[in-house]
Amino acid sequence: MDERNAFYNGNLLTLNSSSSHENVKNIYETWAEHYNKVTGNAGYVAYKTCPPIFHQVLKEVTNNNNMDIRIFDAGAGTGLVGKVLYDLGYRNIDALDISQKMLDEAQKMNIYKKTFCAALGEDAIPGIDDDQYDAVICVGSLTIGHVKPNALDEFVRIVKPGGIIGFTLRKDVYNESFNRDIYRETANLGYRAKMEQMVKEKKWKLVQCDEIDYHISMDEMRAKCYSLMYQVL
Ligand SMILES: C[S@@+](CC[C@H](N)C(=O)[O-])C[C@H]1O[C@@H](n2cnc3c(N)ncnc32)[C@H](O)[C@@H]1O
Repeated sequence: MDERNAFYNGNLLTLNSSSSHENVKNIYETWAEHYNKVTGNAGYVAYKTCPPIFHQVLKEVTNNNNMDIRIFDAGAGTGLVGKVLYDLGYRNIDALDISQKMLDEAQKMNIYKKTFCAALGEDAIPGIDDDQYDAVICVGSLTIGHVKPNALDEFVRIVKPGGIIGFTLRKDVYNESFNRDIYRETANLGYRAKMEQMVKEKKWKLVQCDEIDYHISMDEMRAKCYSLMYQVL
């Protein structure tokens, strides 16, 4: 394993559900320049496997063929997801990330209209009113020590009723079935409980769930994820 893959496997595994915004931000700030290469070497593919499903759901569920709809890429990182959406024809995409250095990389691609450097969590994102977006996509970022379940409320706040919120959740994160030797995780992460609670509260409904590739050539726990598509009610 080369030094960069050691970083991928090492630093991310220091995160757990108690990690602070500062912890995760510091990891990505030091990683930004190498992110695309390192994740590519590690077989990360969720940025390619999830957006086509999001695209298909936008067409079929919202019946909207307008490629100028406003999309919010949450935890956008270096813009890998935005680039796939751009190549599908979308032209009105904004990005948010906790790390300005990751956003600096994303901005080099000239695909995002606006970028926001802010932490997703319990606080409202500064500068975004309610019902501003047609859709949110969040790939690879709702996970251990990254974006916590309470950010899902914020996604619903900024998306118009009828709009789509699409995201990935690793299977083991969804099922909370960790290999504790590897992840040293003890807390209840709460993503699944939060998603189900929001259905009961009639904030959103599930419109599609697929099992998709997350990492090719990685251990079984990180190989697959769910692609979850919800419609805001
Ligand atoms: C695994 S990367 C995914 C990036 C991109 N979506 C992709 O698929 O390549 C996770 C991203 O989430 C960002 N992040 C982690 N926690 C965050 C938080 N609480 N608020 C906003 N961004 C966060 C990190 O800075 C990082 O860019």
